Amino acid sequence: MTKQTDARTLIAGRGVVEPFRVMKMLDLVHRRRAAGQETIMLCAGQPSTGAPEAVLSAAETALRDSPLGYTEVVGDRGLREIVAHWHSRTYGVETGPDNVVITTGSSGGFVAAFLATLEIGDTVALARPGYPAYRNILKSLGVGVVDLPCGAETNFQPTAAMLEALPEPPKAVLVTSPGNPSGTIIDPGEIEKIAQWCDAHGAVLISDEDYHGLSFGKPTVTARQFSDNAIVVGTLSKYFSMTGWRVGWLILPDALVETVENLQASHSLCAPAISQIAGRAAFSPEATEELDGHLERYRETRRVLLDALPGIGLDTFAEPDGGLYLWVDVSSVTEDSEAWASELVDAIGVALAPGVDFDPVDGHSWVRLSLCGPAEEAAEAVRRLGQYLGR
Ligand SMILES: Cc1ncc(COP(=O)(O)O)c(C=O)c1O
Repeated sequence: MTKQTDARTLIAGRGVVEPFRVMKMLDLVHRRRAAGQETIMLCAGQPSTGAPEAVLSAAETALRDSPLGYTEVVGDRGLREIVAHWHSRTYGVETGPDNVVITTGSSGGFVAAFLATLEIGDTVALARPGYPAYRNILKSLGVGVVDLPCGAETNFQPTAAMLEALPEPPKAVLVTSPGNPSGTIIDPGEIEKIAQWCDAHGAVLISDEDYHGLSFGKPTVTARQFSDNAIVVGTLSKYFSMTGWRVGWLILPDALVETVENLQASHSLCAPAISQIAGRAAFSPEATEELDGHLERYRETRRVLLDALPGIGLDTFAEPDGGLYLWVDVSSVTEDSEAWASELVDAIGVALAPGVDFDPVDGHSWVRLSLCGPAEEAAEAVRRLGQYLGR
């Protein structure tokens, strides 16, 4: 037998990134449920529903009628045309299919966009709290992160003034609206100022628009309304309720399309064919009707949580304008949200997402609750939590 190589010799420093604690919590919930232990899941980062009916029947047809080989590297032409048309119609911009690249979830899009625009040693400005994968992918690519700490004063979102105050401009700025974990939406005027600042300072604006379609009333704008240089990232995972189908897209400036195409050709060849072909139907009027119904359920769960949490003393949170989450300050209860979240699963069968994933500095006293489950379950979770806390 050969002697196993020591981990320190085997593992490259850039490959070592933080674990995604939410996914660990999800695993725990699945294990508990498999063992017959009832658990309320408020930690999920995905809709609890499946793909729209129209997509399911399109997938059945595609399975039988199509060889489902590789699609074009940049994605199925039909889907690219539909995404381009949807983007143009929704935001009043002129997006052509040649600027759309279909990716393996938006996650695949981020890797391609970062590789296409950032050198090793460059920096990207990001909101904190924010989606943890950004900093993990960037670290593994040798790119630095400039934190933009965002609190209630700016609705948990970055501003152009924060960029202006940086000692030197970063190579890129990444914004996420509606946000994860905050659910807050950046005002259109602020996105415009951020886009102008990026153009004036030669910084690439990357706009994560994955949670578009999920607004409780506030308007969402695309960064492409304000700059043709902006890179927009989108997905079928959130509003479209097709998380595991792994389809996302990039809307790119002309100058980047070929570079991203060549990167994607070597990294993944193409996004899953069946998901792309069936995904065309996600934009149909029948699908939209079904998906808008899900939004109404998220709205109801949001209302229940916002009404009930102050009653148990948890009255500091980011009020979500959209998205799928509620970001709650639990500093009155714990300074270790990870340990507290584990304790709650065991004690009352309620699974929350610990805040440290989203904010490595202050997240130890925050948790993220998901709006994806039924309102009755959310109400029951708050009742159990109140009882547990003696409030
Ligand atoms: C803000 C944000 N961006 C990107 C993603 C990645 O999603 P996907 O790869 O499924 O499109 C997620 C997933 O939760 C997210 O919350």
